[in-house]
Amino acid sequence: MPDVNPEFVKYAELHIPGRDPIKLPILKGTMGPEVIDIRALGKEGYFTFDPGFVSTASCSSRITFIDGAKGILLYRGYPIDQLATKANYLKTCYLLFKGELPTPAQYEEFEYKVKHHTLIHEQINSLFQAFRRDSHPMALMCGIAGALSAFYHDNLDIYDPEHRENTMIRLIAKMPTLAAMAYKYSIGQPFMYPRNDLDFAANFLHMMFATPAEDYKVNPVIAKAMDRIFILHADHEQNASTSSVRLAGSSGANPYACIAAGIASLWGPAHGGANEACLRMLEQIGTCDRIPEFVARAKDKNDPFRLSGFGHRVYKTYDPRAVVMRETCHEVLNELHIKDHPILDVATELEKIALSDEYFIERHLYPNVDFYSGIILNAIGIPTSMFTVIFAIARTIGWISHWNEMQEMPESRIGRPRQIYVGKTLRDIKASPARRRSAKSSAATKI
Ligand code: SDX
Repeated sequence: MPDVNPEFVKYAELHIPGRDPIKLPILKGTMGPEVIDIRALGKEGYFTFDPGFVSTASCSSRITFIDGAKGILLYRGYPIDQLATKANYLKTCYLLFKGELPTPAQYEEFEYKVKHHTLIHEQINSLFQAFRRDSHPMALMCGIAGALSAFYHDNLDIYDPEHRENTMIRLIAKMPTLAAMAYKYSIGQPFMYPRNDLDFAANFLHMMFATPAEDYKVNPVIAKAMDRIFILHADHEQNASTSSVRLAGSSGANPYACIAAGIASLWGPAHGGANEACLRMLEQIGTCDRIPEFVARAKDKNDPFRLSGFGHRVYKTYDPRAVVMRETCHEVLNELHIKDHPILDVATELEKIALSDEYFIERHLYPNVDFYSGIILNAIGIPTSMFTVIFAIARTIGWISHWNEMQEMPESRIGRPRQIYVGKTLRDIKASPARRRSAKSSAATKI
């Protein structure tokens, strides 16, 4: 893998009263802002303080580029809207992991390998029985994805590129199977085995909605929409769940355990759980006339309520994925002849109101990837509790591609942030009054 280091541009000087200035290199990547390299500060006795890593680059990466101000998202240099309309999810997986789109021959071999790893070890079926039927499917995904490490712990040398690629293939192949099993388990239906005559998205829909009693005819328009949802969610630079995977992987942990860490982090409503939270919010709003009440709550500092599906740490304009998602939403509703979808009406009106409201405008709060995805999944018949699981299926390739890149990067070290300590200063345990009395009396008897 060619070693692409950031380029040195110039020095910054940090002037701290009472000491010589500290020179810090300023680096530049192939795209994006200049970065101040602060690695020397530790030796100078300083930490930097950046809760939530708002201004911190944790690594250098070649995988995904985001320009939040311009609403640009590139996977290995290709714009997300081109991939969403001209590629498919498996080609996108190949691109994210290997760095280039596959040739037809490479794609045929890759698709064959993925299809022949979609089955899971039959013993894993019994793991599902350990969960309550009404468990949140993300709880099952956290547990069972992590349990995969028990099945592959021995034949996995994380320093062997071939082992790492086999792990990637196993993970992207098995996540849809596990996800569909989690859904079937929750509704008490038998698990459906994957089928090698179906493509990635169609196979997932088959495992979700077919039963042994009758076949399920996959609607090609719905399968294409599902595949596009997977593409849009495939990767997104150093987001919370990818950073969780990188941090877990930095200790040399088994990649299946690292993916479980990513699934756990994605579950939160501020991150991947927002698509589930967004649909529940739209259902709670219910009708357009109630929108002002919820917008007022979102603006009220004393109310923890926020508009799910709105705002983003990086995008300060429209999330480019939300644009494609909105078009896909209308395609799916038209294909399913859903005319006046009540939740879509609320979403469309909420978007219009929020985008004209000073509070959202001055904070650059726009719809993000989660705003429309829930309506599409709801229309397809996927239960709300499965929305973040769909996100996890898609993001697995991003997680494992970053995990793989970290193993290849020479500067990779165990991740170990520091802190500003604001607790108690040094102090001794004081003897209790009883212990002081007995100490006094024993001292007296010694004289
Ligand atoms: C994803 O990082 C990624 O790349 C994530 C992701 C990916 O692909 O991996 O893109 C996927 O997680 C998308 C985001 C999904 N989350 C949501 O939709 C939840 C709602 N959004 C917010 O919780 C929030 O916008 C975050 C978490 C997304 C971003 O939080 P930040 O960057 O820490 O911003 P902030 O909380 O500091 O907010 C800045 C201001 C605050 O007001 P002030 O204190 O300045 O007055 O904007 C306000 C916030 O109160 N604000 C909102 C809001 N989001 C931010 N107010 C109302 N509703 C919202 N949704």
